[in-house]
Amino acid sequence: MEYFPITVRLQEQQCLIVGGGDIACRKLKSLLKADAKVSLVALDFSDEVIELARKHQLPLHQQAFDKSLVEGNYLIVAATDNQALNQEVSELARQYHIWINVVDDLELSTFIMPAIVDRSPLLVAVSTGGVSPVLARKIREKLEWILPKNLGALLKRLKSFRPSVKKKFQDLKSKRSFSEWYIESAIENPDTLSHDFEEAVALYEGAIDKEGKVFLIGAGPGDPDLLTVKALKVLQKADVVLHDALVSKGILELVRRDATFVNVGKRAKKHSVLQEETNTLLVKYAQQGLSVVRLKGGDPFIYGRGGEELEHLLDAGINYEVVPGITAASGCSSYAGIPLTHREYSQTVMFITAHCKRSEDTLNWKSLAREQQTVVVYMGLLRNDVLVEQLIKHGRSGNTPIAVIENGTLPQQRVFTGRLQQLPELVKAHDIVSPSLIVIGEVASLANKLDWFKHSQLIKGDEASLNNQALKNFEDTIKEAV
Ligand SMILES: C[S@@+](CC[C@H](N)C(=O)[O-])C[C@H]1O[C@@H](n2cnc3c(N)ncnc32)[C@H](O)[C@@H]1O
Repeated sequence: MEYFPITVRLQEQQCLIVGGGDIACRKLKSLLKADAKVSLVALDFSDEVIELARKHQLPLHQQAFDKSLVEGNYLIVAATDNQALNQEVSELARQYHIWINVVDDLELSTFIMPAIVDRSPLLVAVSTGGVSPVLARKIREKLEWILPKNLGALLKRLKSFRPSVKKKFQDLKSKRSFSEWYIESAIENPDTLSHDFEEAVALYEGAIDKEGKVFLIGAGPGDPDLLTVKALKVLQKADVVLHDALVSKGILELVRRDATFVNVGKRAKKHSVLQEETNTLLVKYAQQGLSVVRLKGGDPFIYGRGGEELEHLLDAGINYEVVPGITAASGCSSYAGIPLTHREYSQTVMFITAHCKRSEDTLNWKSLAREQQTVVVYMGLLRNDVLVEQLIKHGRSGNTPIAVIENGTLPQQRVFTGRLQQLPELVKAHDIVSPSLIVIGEVASLANKLDWFKHSQLIKGDEASLNNQALKNFEDTIKEAV
């Protein structure tokens, strides 16, 4: 950290500005906002500086700079276009251990002024270490837009509530719960600020859930930007987060820092035990009155055992809410440039899982092998040979385009395209690993054309073995259509 950020109290502190033009005027306005006692020295002063000096009764020294003006100041700003003078002021200030800012000259400065979002008493200061004041200003503009205007009033209210909050809420948890509720309510509805403490407490007591609650949240396929706004809100208030192994690090970083994290995905081989343990933990934490998040990859209701977990909560009498997520089929195919349906080539999309012997027996292969539809296979890597064999046996052409998307939506995403009959060799040849999604159907070939995700690696399968003229014609049609 090249610069250490601090906020300095300047009330009644003597400050000197060397210069009298527009830039000096800007610095003067900033210092006046902090109630500093400012004097200025320059040969000439702009009309605005003269007006401000008159209004605030500031001494203006209309003269050449004189070193006798330096001593006794808390800080000095040199805002002249005279390099030699700036240098002299800087050297003198350092000699007297006075903080000095020379406008646009980092070398001569011992402090720099950040861009500020002022919601006093809340201040947000943005500094680029003097590298790019323009960038700092741009960020400030964004923050100005994002931060509610009533934050200053809110902080003043919180300050006045402080003694009553301390008295009313004895333990840390209830104190924090009230503060969180109050801040959120005031941001969403500024009328909250008009209530006195007793009224605010009454509203709070009516609003909060006295019991714990479980939020079953879908984290999406990996890219943290695919999280829903609602999921983000809940994650930032969570007391405990029970997450699967598939949930990406980037998403876990969005959870409230002091939440307890439990990785319930680690022991994935012992499925039934794991699920029971997870259910027990969910109930245990919720019964402690906590806000519990059950965070799952993709959408919790698609191959996520979300239903089973909710049934368990229902039986235990625990409150719950579901926040859907973007399922892998949707997220990964989008990031691979594969539209799952296409008006002319695929009117149906089916999500299946084919990772165990049971799926092999229970799946309706005849209907899965139909033309004009897309089949998305979750957890299909392990038994991909059976998948191919069954689909071809039930009538799907071995030349049907396929795509395998590994680590979809993440920077390490790889997309492999080829033909249905090539799937096993594709998986083997490229060491494709989990998590991977298999897309079967004519639309898969569109990845070669519509791929857009800049991190993605698109690997086209060997097409030399193709002899299906109908398929080639189809591809030509697609190329024309896109
Ligand atoms: C247990 S299922 C969970 C599915 C999840 N609930 C959803 O809606 O996406 C896990 C499978 O989803 C697929 N999957 C999840 N995330 C993926 C990703 N980022 N890339 C590729 N496949 C993914 C893989 O087939 C993986 O084996």
